[in-house]
Amino acid sequence: MNDPYVRPRQGTLEDPLRIAVLISGGGSGLFALVTHQLSIPSCYATKLIISDRRDAKGLIFGSEFEIPAIAIELPTTNDTHQRRLFHEELIHQKLLESQIELVVLSGYMRILTPSFVKKWKGRLINIHPSLLPKYPGAHAHRDALADDAKITGCTVHLVDEGVDTGKILAQSEVPILEGDTIEVLQNRVKKVEHKLYPKVLDKYCTTG
Ligand code: GRF
Repeated sequence: MNDPYVRPRQGTLEDPLRIAVLISGGGSGLFALVTHQLSIPSCYATKLIISDRRDAKGLIFGSEFEIPAIAIELPTTNDTHQRRLFHEELIHQKLLESQIELVVLSGYMRILTPSFVKKWKGRLINIHPSLLPKYPGAHAHRDALADDAKITGCTVHLVDEGVDTGKILAQSEVPILEGDTIEVLQNRVKKVEHKLYPKVLDKYCTTG
């Protein structure tokens, strides 16, 4: 049976919830999130940025915002399952060491194993670029265009043991326009993601 979600404590202005943001690429979502946090008195604070790729451009925001930003890459072992578990254990230890209370996936392109999810369930949140349950997985925009959909969007959800199947917290719609390419659509969806994710975190971190 799947484990229940265990919510983080309620963040306060005096003692903001300590969050880590996990990325794999450009980090525009991370940038939007931290910019939002710094623009208002916030009940959560980004204390750590982790990328699974050393070349992730988003790591640069660590120095810009004076937040520790590190790459934890996949170890080189032959057994792919062991490698995933070991990688996640390195991340888990770093999260504990930094006293992280909520893990925010923002363009983190690895699927987490049930063993990692179990440790953080309810304290592990993701944004996905489609209106789930439509178009789960790594190619949401491609799949929406191939489906000739007229509407797509983004979903903020808690992470469970499945792929993009966790409890939905909020969604925003985005139109698909004639002639859209994956890139054009991705940029339109990202603009909406950058508003939705901070809004959901504001709520999730203060309702305990
Ligand atoms: C976002 O669209 C996110 O939903 C998806 O990957 C993209 C990440 O973009 N999983 P960025 O790295 O935040 O620019």
